[in-house]
Amino acid sequence: MSWLSKEPRLRRTLVSAAGLTVGTALALAGTVAPQAHAAPGTLGAAAAANGRYFGTAVAAGRLSDATYSTILDREFNMITPENEMKWDTTEPSRGNFNFGPADGIVSHATAHGQRMRGHTLVWHSQLPGWVNSIRDANTLRGVMNNHITSEMNHFKGKIYAWDVVNEAFADGSTQHRSSVFQNVLGNGFIEEAFRTARAADPSAKLCYNDYNIENWTDAKTQGVYAMVKDFKSRGVPIDCVGLQSHFGAGGPPASFRTTLSNFAALGVDVQITELDIAQAPPTAYANTVQACLNVARCTGLTAWGIRDTDSWRPGENPLLFDGNGNKKSAYGATLSALGGSTGNPGGIVSGTVYSLGSVAASRVLDVPGGQTANGTPVQVWDANGGANQQWRADQNGDGSYTLTNIGSGRVLDEPGDQTGNGTRMQIWDGHSGANQHWRASQNGDGSYTLTNVASGRALDVPAGQSANGTPVQVWDSSGAANQHWNFR
Ligand code: XIL
Repeated sequence: MSWLSKEPRLRRTLVSAAGLTVGTALALAGTVAPQAHAAPGTLGAAAAANGRYFGTAVAAGRLSDATYSTILDREFNMITPENEMKWDTTEPSRGNFNFGPADGIVSHATAHGQRMRGHTLVWHSQLPGWVNSIRDANTLRGVMNNHITSEMNHFKGKIYAWDVVNEAFADGSTQHRSSVFQNVLGNGFIEEAFRTARAADPSAKLCYNDYNIENWTDAKTQGVYAMVKDFKSRGVPIDCVGLQSHFGAGGPPASFRTTLSNFAALGVDVQITELDIAQAPPTAYANTVQACLNVARCTGLTAWGIRDTDSWRPGENPLLFDGNGNKKSAYGATLSALGGSTGNPGGIVSGTVYSLGSVAASRVLDVPGGQTANGTPVQVWDANGGANQQWRADQNGDGSYTLTNIGSGRVLDEPGDQTGNGTRMQIWDGHSGANQHWRASQNGDGSYTLTNVASGRALDVPAGQSANGTPVQVWDSSGAANQHWNFR
């Protein structure tokens, strides 16, 4: 069911319940209230608890990939078609409309209770050649308005917000960029597009969407701000500003919250519409979420894709899930910034891949490069991001974790029946024995002590040793830094 069709149902139930006692009516209303649509402890549910959505860009062609659609439907309650609503797909030749690919995404969203952002109606890019070559203003005006009206009519009632105009401003400037719309129709094309859009679907929110408008003092930000201010003062219909938020590894600029709240103060919603961050530093993701939570009219965030392998920024690993669909550290940071519960008392997010940093040694838990056999001893080594230093934490029924090394596919193991102080840890095929189960308890410094369930001893770097290649052992828990491990 789409989000729109839910509201009348809720209203009807409240009306029909009016004759009952207040308690019964409230209980009934509670059973039919719009759901968060995402499982507890997920991005969507945690965002919903803050009155916001958490969305992702979706490519129609990936919906048949089970890993992809499982994550999509578990975590996200808003969908933006990554390419399927763009002009080159929807009207490849004049008057010849093709909504099939986008329809597939919309029906997926409807079936899974996800809302839709429509992206995008008027944009200089992914624009078919036949539009680009129009030189007559009346012709182009008619073509633009017909495109907006036809596409919005087709999806009427199914779209929460439309990016009516995308990326119309020039980089480093307060002025519009050159485009066929700008060059043939002049400055007024944006206003015309918004007026046409309002007439086509009065119930959809109408957004202006752009990148590099996140830093308040940038000329482009100021240019878009001036336009929105002008639109609001003259009654040109505009409801929201989308900040794409394609960030470098530094994440959002320090002024991001200021920018969001200044736009919001003009009387529009703001949304983070295409979030991805080079290398996905957890803090950069958390800061982005926090900026949105700090601004009442920031209504939601959308990541521009699910797994790193789905991203339009190849090689930058900017998303929340790795190529195998595992949660990255940035996922945990994002979820906890949303106040989401991981469901784990220790705060480790089950299913997430971490590096395990020894606090005392300042090196990470490492399987010697190229060695993957059963019985390979583990050590500490300088962090290098390698798969031999990545460990997936999966929570077991007893609350402990199994730590699977990504490089070898084998798990952190205390050799069978060896439980004494000084026993060196190894990797072994996972068999869920107690010697492969590690209890995690959080220390005051945010790190964890990992206690092996079979021996009751703690994962330990021998005291005073920190060099590359130092073996990792178990020892009686002492609370010292050589038994403290940071999950990053
Ligand atoms: C990108 C898509 O992710 C790619 O698949 C496509 O090849 C190009 O467009 N700003 C936008 C998005 O508004 O539509 C763009 O999406 C990324 C930049």
